[in-house]
Parts: sequence; structure tokens; C-alpha cells
Amino acid sequence: MIEIANLYKTFDKVQVLNGLNLTVRDGETKVIIGRSGAGKSVLLKSIVGIVAPDSGSIKVGGTEVVGLSEHAYNKVRKNIGLVFQGGALFDSLNVGENIGFVLDEFGRLLPEARRERVAHALSLVGMKGIEEMMPSQLSGGMRKRVSLARVLCMEPKILLYDEPTSEVDPITADAINSLMMEMHDKLKVTSIVVTHDMTTAFKIADSVAMFYHGQVIADGTPDEIRNSRHPVVQQFINGRAVGPVTEDESMKFGHVR
Ligand SMILES: Nc1ncnc2c1ncn2[C@@H]1O[C@H](COP(=O)(O)OP(=O)(O)O)[C@@H](O)[C@H]1O
Ligand SMILES: [Mg+2]
Repeated sequence: MIEIANLYKTFDKVQVLNGLNLTVRDGETKVIIGRSGAGKSVLLKSIVGIVAPDSGSIKVGGTEVVGLSEHAYNKVRKNIGLVFQGGALFDSLNVGENIGFVLDEFGRLLPEARRERVAHALSLVGMKGIEEMMPSQLSGGMRKRVSLARVLCMEPKILLYDEPTSEVDPITADAINSLMMEMHDKLKVTSIVVTHDMTTAFKIADSVAMFYHGQVIADGTPDEIRNSRHPVVQQFINGRAVGPVTEDESMKFGHVR
């Protein structure tokens, strides 16, 4: 579903993506882990075309999107839902309007069809019938659900989540994890989930990819990653800061699968 090969991106002479390779199979939930600044968000932005890579290839459902015209890219984007950090709602719009306005950006639906799409999206996230509520009346967890519903109303085939459980309490985080797993099961979507929350990673992933200096240094099932002998991986998943792992040490282990 998503095939990334030799992707490079530099910002102000800083090599953020450094020949990155990653494959996400149809229906798979791929979790991406890695330290802040490793290039995880830049990768997601590259997939949806917010960031233009310097070189390399990104295929989405077989279509090469690097260098694609804006018009052609919009067709691809219709199939991709990006769930942002925070996922801010418009405070002045009620829940139904917050969801509905996204639909309007991609063409007109008849009012009844539009209402149904909004209602369906809300029921998918367990928030049926709250169209009239205002964002200020919602808890943090409910807001997250509504912002997910806003993405789901587009009926995307691919869901990209950028740190969906950051800045929420553990109970809400668990609810969001369950929600992501439900979407995976119910909608058969292909997902990429960026997180630094290891509980989330191991709970929801079919496979986990570890980013380090703009490359994927390990990619495998949750068990394979847990048992990886790669020092950078071990350090990260155990949350230890035992001093920097030298480049040499890291390269010695290379890519594990
Ligand atoms: N639009 C931008 N302009 C300049 N530098 C950027 C931009 N976006 C990201 N970066 C830099 O790229 C690096 C990786 O960022 P990011 O992908 O957001 O990291 P993370 O893995 O934490 O999501 C960071 O050093 C960041 O400062
Ligand atoms: Mg990020």
C-alpha cells in the first residue's frame, strides 16, 4: 500500500531523511518509533505531500507521489487521513460542523447524505448523536475522538497518526489505542502510527519500525523488536539514556528484521 525507497530530505543543511526505506502492507498497522527530531513527522508529511522530498520514491497504492502535480496529488490525498498531534477543533463550530466542513472541501454532498456521513463517522468513534455539542463541552478524550471522526468522514483507505496519545492521560491513551485497533478491524485501513509511547507501540502494531538518523534501523514484529539486540533499539524501548551509542556500534548491527 505504501512503498518508500531511498527517501532523502534536507532542511537547512540538516539531513533529516537519509535514504529511508519502508514498506507498509495493505491492511497493516505499522508503528514508527524514534527519538524527537528523528524525522517521523517529516516522513508523514512527505507521504501527504506537505513536505517535498529531495529525492527518492514514495508509492501510495502503486502511484508514485514524489513530484506529482497538485491536481493528481489531490486524488491520492482523498484516500489518506492524517490525524495530527492535537487535532485542533474549531471552537466556534459545533461538532457536526467541525466534521462536515471537511466534507465540503472535497465537493458538495446533498444535505441528507452529508448528515449521514457525519453521523456515521461519529458512531464509528463511539460518539453518536453529539453533533450539536460545542468543543468546549468535550473532554480531551472526546475531542480526540471527534478529530478522528473528522478524518474518518472522508472514508480514507490509509490513516496516518502523528503521536495520537501524546499529551493525554494513560486512561485516555488506552481508549485511543482501542479506537485505532477498532478502525483497523472495522474499516480494514492501512495505518502508520508515530508514537514514542511503547505501550501503544507494542499493543497496536503489526510491525514496528525504528527511526534513527533518518533511516529505518530495525523493522519487525513487536516481539522481534522487543528481542532486538540492536543497542539503539534496546536503549529506546527500555527508556534508558545510557549515553550516546556510537555510530560504529549502531552500524555494526545494521538492519535487523
Ligand atoms: N519545515 C521545516 N523546516 C526546517 N526544519 C524542519 C522542518 N520540519 C522539520 N524540520 C526539522 O527536521 C527534523 C525532524 O523533524 P520531525 O520529523 O518533526 O521529527 P520527529 O521525529 O520528532 O517527528 C527536526 O530537526 C526539525 O527541526
Ligand atoms: Mg513529530
